[in-house]
Amino acid sequence: MFSDKRRHFLKQAATAGIACSANSFLSPFAFAQPPANSGDVARIYVDSRRTIAPLDRNLFGSFLEHLGRAIYQGIYDPGSSLSDATGFRKDVMEEVRRLGVPIIRYPGGNFVSGYNWLDGVGPKKDRPRVLDRAWNSIDTNQFGTNEFMAWSKIVGSRPLMGLNLGTGSAEKAAALVEYCNVEKGTKWSELRRTHGVEQPHKVEHWCLGNEMDGPWQIGHMTATEYGMKAQDAARQMRAVDPSLKLIACGSSGPGMPTYLEWDREVLEQCYEYVDALSLHRYIGNTQEETGKDSAKFLAMNLSMEQQIAETLAVCDLVRGHKRSAKKLWLSFDEWNVWYRARNGDALNGHEKEAPHLLEEVYNLEDALLVGGIVNTLMRNADRIKIACLAQLVNVIAPLVTNANGLFRQTIFYPYSWALQWARGNVLNVLVESPTYEVSEMGQVPYIDVAGTLSPEDGKLSLFILNRDLNKAHTIEINWQDRSPGGVLSSTVLTGGDLKAFNSFEAPQRVAPQSADKPSTSGGRMKLELPARSYTAIQWSA
Ligand code: AHR
Repeated sequence: MFSDKRRHFLKQAATAGIACSANSFLSPFAFAQPPANSGDVARIYVDSRRTIAPLDRNLFGSFLEHLGRAIYQGIYDPGSSLSDATGFRKDVMEEVRRLGVPIIRYPGGNFVSGYNWLDGVGPKKDRPRVLDRAWNSIDTNQFGTNEFMAWSKIVGSRPLMGLNLGTGSAEKAAALVEYCNVEKGTKWSELRRTHGVEQPHKVEHWCLGNEMDGPWQIGHMTATEYGMKAQDAARQMRAVDPSLKLIACGSSGPGMPTYLEWDREVLEQCYEYVDALSLHRYIGNTQEETGKDSAKFLAMNLSMEQQIAETLAVCDLVRGHKRSAKKLWLSFDEWNVWYRARNGDALNGHEKEAPHLLEEVYNLEDALLVGGIVNTLMRNADRIKIACLAQLVNVIAPLVTNANGLFRQTIFYPYSWALQWARGNVLNVLVESPTYEVSEMGQVPYIDVAGTLSPEDGKLSLFILNRDLNKAHTIEINWQDRSPGGVLSSTVLTGGDLKAFNSFEAPQRVAPQSADKPSTSGGRMKLELPARSYTAIQWSA
């Protein structure tokens, strides 16, 4: 299995001392440190004139791969009474539509590097049953590009299409662009029309391959080889449609021995031909990564913050080498917590259709960290334009289905709050927080904050993680230029048991509660944040 290989590969690399292990990677954290505050009260200073960037809604995208039960039994289940006439699960569509997921990456992931998109278009009866070598599963190809586009339209999302640059060629990538984006009169656009799809899909965003730095990846190659292939694909694709936004494959994580060197070499080949570079990250509360220490685990979004800074430094270094006017942005197109369903049978489909793979069960502490990661993404909104919670349904996902319905995992909540309440401009909030010592990370603030202000309706939102496992913290919010209006909503995710999780039997074990509203005196607001909590508050103008 390719992903099993990934795990072993990273493990071996770490023992051999060639990988930047999570630990050595984690220091120094100086850039992420807010001003220290020795007192117990944390102070947040908000000035509506001080902003980071307009928030691109694509920062809260997601991901659906032909993997396990994500597509089949997840969003497409023709035999189910819960599905519509096309076979789309109505309950899942409703949930995704209500969430308002702006962009969804598809069809992989590792899967895409062996995928022939032609197998998934045309009359369903003629589509082949194919052995997917990435996950050792059978793909019936009853769901393909046109079904995904139709489904995306219904749920109100745009596609982020992945291309096969493993076994696939640049020519085949350009053919898919022509199939999707050209109206008529050419070989591939006419093929689409014979498949009953008259209007082009007009797909704007494309990933040039997936994790091509990983020895587990089908078609893995060197950075220079990949950079040249990405350049060729980009040139051919842009000849078909010059308006495309193209994302080159960056490192699949900071633990890779080629971390940053891969990114630099790739960009030396294709900088001028792409718009963005990808990065991926999965975090685990494991012995290797955190020593199974929840206090450290809740600080791990700060190590993502460091990964972002380092990746941007490489982009800008190559920009300097090239004397380029263009500044790349980042696509954090796979991120999540993932460490339990990550070996053995959780990765091996045993040549079955829709096997149970990567069905990670998320607990309260995972949700709190996901809240922290959402904050990290917002704080980097000036350079990250797309990010995808990996994934959306059943596979390392916020939503889980069975034959009778679905339930929301704990991580659903912080993600949905960002989608619901983060609007407009990201605020450059100043935070003074008491800190705690974390091994190899130094002093970490208990309180982690991100905020947005919508210029349209003046609504202001704050998202606050309290990493303290034992103590509530009082927050003082100082409005520096103007105070907001009334509190529109105030919600918190917390609980006594960090390991509590939801299931079909107990879908509400970890669920949002309404939080205390802040009290106001003399232009300041005070609020108590429970221990182990993530809170979202929105005010009117
Ligand atoms: O999201 C699961 C897998 O993780 C993806 O297929 C791959 O890109 C990554 O390694």
